[in-house]
Amino acid sequence: GAPVELDISGMQPGDMKTVEWRGKPVWVVRRDDAMVQALPKLDSQLADPNSERSPDALTPEYARNPHRSIKPEYLVAVGICSHLGCSPSARFEPGPQPSLPNDWQGGFFCPCHGSTFDLAGRVYAGKPAPDNLEVPPHKYLSDTKLLIG
Ligand code: FES
Repeated sequence: GAPVELDISGMQPGDMKTVEWRGKPVWVVRRDDAMVQALPKLDSQLADPNSERSPDALTPEYARNPHRSIKPEYLVAVGICSHLGCSPSARFEPGPQPSLPNDWQGGFFCPCHGSTFDLAGRVYAGKPAPDNLEVPPHKYLSDTKLLIG
């Protein structure tokens, strides 16, 4: 599949866009400061907080960092659950909510079997999904243009 270019110039903190790349949904989320700062606090609840599993397939070298991305404010991830391939839904609002971990800091919830992912696409431990969401190959062509693939 060809790389896909995305204009991110209008994105505000909390915004999410979905683009199709190789037949898969790719999410781009602009995180706000609170979202970025919450990430390291979640490490003890996650199955693979440092993205050490299958790094070549799931996490390019430039995304092996605490925010799992090139720029702290942007998450770029394939929106397909690592369990059986459902598409998780965005649950960005922090705080207690049914079916979500107690101190929820925002992230994604898979409706099929209840796996949860944080705002870096990292899977919570003890859920059916074994792995973090895939970070696809990508780069910034400019401050406002992202190339996926
Ligand atoms: Fe997502 Fe099963 S497919 S939890």
